[in-house]
Amino acid sequence: MRILAIESSCDETACAIVEDGVKILSNIVATQISEHRLYGGVVPEIASRMHAECIYQVVEEALCEASCTLANIDAIAVTYAPGLIGALLVGISFAKGLALSTGKPLIPVHHIAGHIAANYISHPDLRPPYLCLVVSGGHSHIVEVLDYTTYHVVGRTHDDAAGECFDKVARTLGYEYPGGRFIDSAARFGNPIAYRFPHPKVDGCEYDFSFSGLKTAVINLVHNAEQKGETLVREDIAASFQRTVCEILVGKTMAAAEALGYKNIGLAGGVSANSGVRSALKQACDQRGFRLFMPELRYCGDNAAMIGCQAYYDFLAGKRADQSLNGIATLSLDKLAAGEGGL
Ligand code: KG4
Ligand code: ZN
Repeated sequence: MRILAIESSCDETACAIVEDGVKILSNIVATQISEHRLYGGVVPEIASRMHAECIYQVVEEALCEASCTLANIDAIAVTYAPGLIGALLVGISFAKGLALSTGKPLIPVHHIAGHIAANYISHPDLRPPYLCLVVSGGHSHIVEVLDYTTYHVVGRTHDDAAGECFDKVARTLGYEYPGGRFIDSAARFGNPIAYRFPHPKVDGCEYDFSFSGLKTAVINLVHNAEQKGETLVREDIAASFQRTVCEILVGKTMAAAEALGYKNIGLAGGVSANSGVRSALKQACDQRGFRLFMPELRYCGDNAAMIGCQAYYDFLAGKRADQSLNGIATLSLDKLAAGEGGL
């Protein structure tokens, strides 16, 4: 089964042609980062306009690279939640138009479910159930993936997402947006024990996260040094910050895996590209005899191949949308499992 998948939830306009969930025939991603960099973050209205400008070309390129026409496509998939509403609506409207004009089924896909599914592309032997650490620019979750379309969120952030924290710390250190990958590169040359940053206390669930205290600690360190005219080695701050994030993410994920009895662990979301997170999680899993599944780097950030992959499993589970499909800015994976989200 061939699915044409569209992703436009944030600042990447993407289209992929995916066969039977895991065979990627094409995967086109048009990033808008250079447009938003000037403002230090994604500007929703600019994002929507850019999606509108380039979506036709991105879809055409995906079909061309897969040597397909719409006649060879069996279904149209699109990210409908969560995300920037104006950005989502561009992809949704385009997908609806394709579904209507071709008479093919329309499959609505949850963005975070897509990130998790990126693991099936890279690891065809991975099967639910497993525990997945999802760390992106907008989300930080520990999720029980019960089957291909059912999830139970056991931990979530109370404030900033991990990627958001990386980007804000990067900005304080003078790196351009989005700075997560610059922290990653700088950390390789810094001393990871040069600074001791706090491991925030979180009231409530023991698997929940909080990153705002850590972010504030780094910002205060930098501002105090500036006021005193001291120079700091930013590679040392990057390395110490990244070590702290890794300790928090890995510590909570391992605790949840041990308590809930999971031996298969997944990693997903844009921050899954971080070399420190990948190696710390690998080491922790190896020590415990757990198997770790991580997406290849090209499927870590936002892309449509992961949406096409998840769409295949959603299709098998009977998920369909009609021409009334709308975008949803915030929709927890838990709600999806409960059948909410207007579908
Ligand atoms: O999943 P994603 O592409 O978009 C969302 O759905 O949010 O995640 C983007 C986030 C950004 O915060 C970006 O800085 C971060 O992932 N990121 C990284 C790295 N590569 C991307 N953070 C740390 N290290 C990296 N190598
Ligand atoms: Zn994402």
